[in-house]
Amino acid sequence: MATTVTASKALSSYFSMSQARADRWRTVHRLARTLAGGTQRPDEVRERITQELAGLAPIEELCAYPGPRLLTVLRERLQTGDYQGVARLAQRISISLLANSYRDDSEAWRSDEDDAHTPDALPPGIAQASTRKPYLEVLVVSPGERSTWQETREAFRRMRREGDAFVYEPVVVGSFEDAVLAAIVNYNIQAVVIYDGFQYASQSSLSDLREILASVVPAETADDADLGTLLARVLRAYRPELDIYLMTDRNASALAGSEEAACIRRLFYGLEELLEIHLSILDGVQDRYATPYFDNLKKYAQRPMGTFHALPVARGKSIFKSNWIRDMGEFYGTNLFLAESSATTGGLDSLLEPTGNIKVAQEKAARALGGDHAFFVTNGTSTSNKIVHMALLSPGDIVLIDRDCHKSHHYGLVLAGAQPYYIDAFPLTQYSMYGSLAIRPIKEALLALKAEGKLDKAKMIVLTNCTFDGHVANVERTMLECLAIKPDIIFLWDEAWFGFARFSPFLRRRTAMGAAAKIRAMMRDPAYRERYAEFKKKAGDVDPKNKALLDTPLLPDPDKVRVRVYETDSVHKSMSSLRQSSIVVVADQDFHKIEPMFKEAYFTHTSTSPNLQIIATLDLARRQMELEGYELVQKAIQLSIELRHDINQHPLISKYFHAATPAEMIPAEYRQSGMSDFGAPGWNVAKTINALNTDEFFLDPTRITVLCGNAGMDGSQFKGLLASDYDIQINKTSRNSVLVQININNTKSDAAHLLKALADMSRAIDKRLAEGGDATQASFKARVKSLVEDVPDLPNFSRFHDAFRDNPKSAANEGHMRAAFYLAANPAACEYVKLGSKELEDRLKNGPELVSAKFVIPYPPGFPIMVPGQVITNETITFMRKLDVKEIHGYNAALGLECLRPDALAALRGKEAPVGERISKPKTPVGV
Ligand SMILES: Cc1ncc(COP(=O)(O)O)c(C=O)c1O
Repeated sequence: MATTVTASKALSSYFSMSQARADRWRTVHRLARTLAGGTQRPDEVRERITQELAGLAPIEELCAYPGPRLLTVLRERLQTGDYQGVARLAQRISISLLANSYRDDSEAWRSDEDDAHTPDALPPGIAQASTRKPYLEVLVVSPGERSTWQETREAFRRMRREGDAFVYEPVVVGSFEDAVLAAIVNYNIQAVVIYDGFQYASQSSLSDLREILASVVPAETADDADLGTLLARVLRAYRPELDIYLMTDRNASALAGSEEAACIRRLFYGLEELLEIHLSILDGVQDRYATPYFDNLKKYAQRPMGTFHALPVARGKSIFKSNWIRDMGEFYGTNLFLAESSATTGGLDSLLEPTGNIKVAQEKAARALGGDHAFFVTNGTSTSNKIVHMALLSPGDIVLIDRDCHKSHHYGLVLAGAQPYYIDAFPLTQYSMYGSLAIRPIKEALLALKAEGKLDKAKMIVLTNCTFDGHVANVERTMLECLAIKPDIIFLWDEAWFGFARFSPFLRRRTAMGAAAKIRAMMRDPAYRERYAEFKKKAGDVDPKNKALLDTPLLPDPDKVRVRVYETDSVHKSMSSLRQSSIVVVADQDFHKIEPMFKEAYFTHTSTSPNLQIIATLDLARRQMELEGYELVQKAIQLSIELRHDINQHPLISKYFHAATPAEMIPAEYRQSGMSDFGAPGWNVAKTINALNTDEFFLDPTRITVLCGNAGMDGSQFKGLLASDYDIQINKTSRNSVLVQININNTKSDAAHLLKALADMSRAIDKRLAEGGDATQASFKARVKSLVEDVPDLPNFSRFHDAFRDNPKSAANEGHMRAAFYLAANPAACEYVKLGSKELEDRLKNGPELVSAKFVIPYPPGFPIMVPGQVITNETITFMRKLDVKEIHGYNAALGLECLRPDALAALRGKEAPVGERISKPKTPVGV
């Protein structure tokens, strides 16, 4: 039953399918206007319209709007020569599709004169704007002949009730292939009703959609009896949010308890339960639509409340009656104040001890993001990370960590007293940025710890996924290989930027929760046991002396593995919630053991006055993503791929600016599939899926590094110019690049705005060079060279000073950073050494070693080039001098580098107890 690939469909055309459909309707509209306007060549134009409609037909079969009904009306009009009617209808369809207005506007559904006598033509709920009901479509997979489909549609429509909260249109298909395609192309589908007994192959010719199908449907075979559950599994894997209902004449009760039916929301026996099905569909959508916290907050805001607590802004009386700050009320509106309270009564629940609607909202968020538990955090992922560190770590534990990760982790480690084992990401020196942490050095670190008998102290691995610049890890492989060395190691995946990825069928597999679910299933799978046995036979026990292990993909022992995965998301960074909204998602088999500590950590870091609006928008962002995340993320990816292409193909813009491709952002050794660019010729969906499954790193298409060195601008200048002259705000910068982030809010107009700005800048540079003469050209060339070629080497982590190491001779590099941090709290233990001083040169050459007292973090690039207790090397100083940035946290140019004094370090080393013990005992004096 495996589908064969018959056509090579470019990746970009997969993502732009919905756009291509809208474009095609625009073409039909344009041609229809020409025809109606009385063209010289009516036959030719009519033929072209016929062709366009034929091209649209396979997709329209899978959609309710305009769908087969309006397509048929158009074709009939074309045949009867009603060209005015064709133009009117084509215009309506084209505009409605472009603006998605058919979801709200009943006019869109009319084929003008007909609807007076065909009341079923439009969903009734969208007829009056004042009583708008959200619109959705339900996919019905039918075993019946096509001639029966109209009756099926009508049967569902007859179920509509005045009190229904939503209005849906059924889309009927007759085969497995069509059902999968409908779920792919039709964003409106929210539920699927499968009637057992349908056929596998599509009845329509799907030549150009077949490859997409093949990439989604596993190459497994099933006998016809299993087709219903197979379809349910395939659809759930692709779009987990869909509610799936199965109508079967098999033994429904036996099936209901089986593993194969786990992904089905409800089973029905026979055909007689249409009203139940209808109510179940609405109930399923309501379950996603309900935002328990937000819904209650709205109700709360409507109640006449007397407040005698410490929040004067609640109810807004101190604002709306004020002589001086009334504009505050006018600006923010009444609801903000009506919805404010410091109480946790009145059904508002408590974030610190949730038992009501916050608890339910968190459970829904866990479901949406694929975890077992979720915890709302109202002070950003900076806080989420610290909560996880504190919950899981004890003083002295070793944590393998990307030195380039967000500063909250470094500070989290100071708070927890754990020892960081810093591992460097692969460098992208040419852009003055780091890439991400490859698997090999992580294994090397774990094996080094194993060799010295310290593996039991290695508690956690902290990784960033994706990185600021879009490097997406192979989460599954990373975890499998690490678990092969330490089967109970905990993973903290910082997915601050990547929350949206859960809602992309492409990227989901590369999220922490996506991979955790897969590994859990794998460890239960007998086929994996066999694979593991084979591996064990060949590789033997994990012997740290065996260097070949570093280049062998390792597999963990399924009997020993504990899947313990934590993911932190800045919901505000990629979904529709207020700033600072963040979430911790947990898939930890041993969570019950650490739950009390997790609570303590949560209490430590959570304000006792959390912002109600942040909690409410976390609830709402979850609702949105569960109902339209698939559509929004597909469109964001499409926009990114187009923008990348438009920048790099534009003859003028590409002279000075360039969107870095996967090949430029990820060294070839980590792109085993050979993927070079999203739009590379011949690069299709199947190859992309292969790259996602195999490559060590994948580039998130929505994070576009725009290189600006060739325009003679450094990242900060370019960012400034975009903001001051074009009102464009962008994300981070590096020495010769800026990061353009495409999000679910971005539109084609935004992309056009940026392209226009790049074109204007390019034109201005062209002009300046053409008119400036030799001197201008020479200085431009020199500036470009300095930005593009004279880039400083990135300094790797040197080492912790011996005073902070339990065993200075150890090959593993962990150190007691907290001891250094607190030693620096004593001013007498510190000294300042100026960057340009002779003392600095002498000390670097002849010692005593310079040891940083502080985290020193230049922006850009934003990673700590020094951490407390780190020995400062020549490389670090050279990098710092070349950096040429204004903002360096932890460094005061007037005073110089803050270092720990050699005598303070000597005094610390002189103590008898090992460092690890001393720092965990606060009484012990440190410093001079
Ligand atoms: C990788 C990473 N983690 C965590 C954070 C902190 O997130 P928040 O701004 O939500 O506190 C950031 C912020 O930029 C980040 O880049």
